[in-house]
Amino acid sequence: MIRINENYLKLQAAYLFSDIAKRVGRFQETHPDRKIIRLGIGDVTRALPQACIDAFHQAVDEMGVDSSFRGYGPEQGYLFLREKIAAVDFQARNADIAPEEIFISDGAKCDTGNIQEIFAADTRIAIPDPVYPVYMDTNVMAGRTGFFQNGRYENVIYLESTRANDFIPDFPKVPVDLIYLCFPNNPTGAVITKAALEKWVDYARENKAVILYDAAYEAFIQDDELPRSIYEIKGAKEVAIEFRSYSKTAGFTGTRCAYTVVPQACMAFDEKGNRHALHKLWNRRHTTKFNGVSYPVQRAAEAVYSRAGQAQVKVLVDYYMGNAALIRKEMTDLGYDCVGGINSPYIWIDTRTDSWQFFDRLLNEAAVVCTPGAGFGACGQGYIRISAFNSEENVREAMDRIKTALS
Ligand code: MLT
Repeated sequence: MIRINENYLKLQAAYLFSDIAKRVGRFQETHPDRKIIRLGIGDVTRALPQACIDAFHQAVDEMGVDSSFRGYGPEQGYLFLREKIAAVDFQARNADIAPEEIFISDGAKCDTGNIQEIFAADTRIAIPDPVYPVYMDTNVMAGRTGFFQNGRYENVIYLESTRANDFIPDFPKVPVDLIYLCFPNNPTGAVITKAALEKWVDYARENKAVILYDAAYEAFIQDDELPRSIYEIKGAKEVAIEFRSYSKTAGFTGTRCAYTVVPQACMAFDEKGNRHALHKLWNRRHTTKFNGVSYPVQRAAEAVYSRAGQAQVKVLVDYYMGNAALIRKEMTDLGYDCVGGINSPYIWIDTRTDSWQFFDRLLNEAAVVCTPGAGFGACGQGYIRISAFNSEENVREAMDRIKTALS
C-alpha cells in the first residue's frame, strides 16, 4: 500500500498567499465591478530595467544561432554572473566571498525551502515569529516539527519578534542548531544593526550552530551603516549561509533568478563530531536536483551589475520606497503604530484588533488587499502587512480608500 508523507497532514490547510488569493478571488466574483488594489503578496509591478531587457534579447538571439547556442549550463550558474555578484555584492563591501561560493537558482523561496535537506532530521531549529512561512512549512514537511497545537508547532524554538524587543529576536533560551534570520525582515520590515548581527554570529560560533540569513530585501536598505550581508561581519563565513534574490530589486518575480552563498569555510558536523563543508553538500544537492537557470535569464541578471543596470535598479527601488514612505505616513497619521517602510518595502501595522478581521474590513470596505499578520505566526496576531509593491497611483488610491474606510 502506497503511503503518504504524513508530515504534510500537520501543515495548515493552505499556503498563506494561496489562501489570501482565494479569498480575494471570491470577493472579486461577488463584486465584479470593484477595482481591487493588491498590496498583499510582495509582487512587483514595474517593468524590468532596460539594461536587463537588452541583455535578455541579445541572449535569446544567441540561442537562435548554432554557433552561439547553449545547452545545459553549469548547475551552479555561469561564471560571468557569479563573478559579478562576488565583486559587486560582496567584495566591494569588504565581504570576502568568491564566485565559486555562489549558487545561482530560480528563487530564494526554493533555496530557503530546500536548504534544510542538508541538515540532520533531528536538527533543533529556531524560527522567528512572525516569519516568512516557507522556512516553517518546509521543516514541517521534512518531519522536523511535531503537530500544530494551540497555534504553534511542537519541537520548534520560536524567536519572538515583538514591539517589546523592537522586532529583533532575543537569543534562544535552549540550545539550537539552525537559526533562520531575515533582514530587512519579511514581514515586519525591521532591520538589524551590525552590532546586533555580530552577536548572532558570535552566538552561532559558540553554539556550533548555523545561521540561514535571508537578505532578499537588502537592496531596500537606505541607511549605509546597516549591514547588507551577514558576511560583512567577521567570522560569519564559518557559520552562515546567505540568500539573495533579483525578484524585488530588479523586478524578476516572473523572470526568476536568485542566488545562495555557501562559503567553503561553513561547516557542520556528523554524529561522531567530524566537520563537513556545507558547500560540498549543497553542491551535491544542487547538481543532483537542479539543472541551472536559463542562459538568457542569467544574462539579464548579469546586466543588473552594469553601470546602466545599477542606475535603473536604483530608480526601481526608490520608486517602491516612495510608496513605502507614503503608506507609513498615512497609517501613522491615522493613529496606527507602524514598523518598517524605512529600509524595507513592507510596513507592519498594529491594528489593535484581529488580523483577519482587519484584512476583511480593508477588502470589503476599501477593496484593498493586505496580508494578515496572523498568517505569519502567533506574534503576528493583531498586525497586518502592507506591501509597497504597486504603482504610486494605486498606492495613493488605496491609502485614500483606507482613510475613508477607517475614519
Ligand atoms: C511575500 O509577499 O512575502 C513574498 O512576495 C513572498 C515570496 O517572495 O515568496
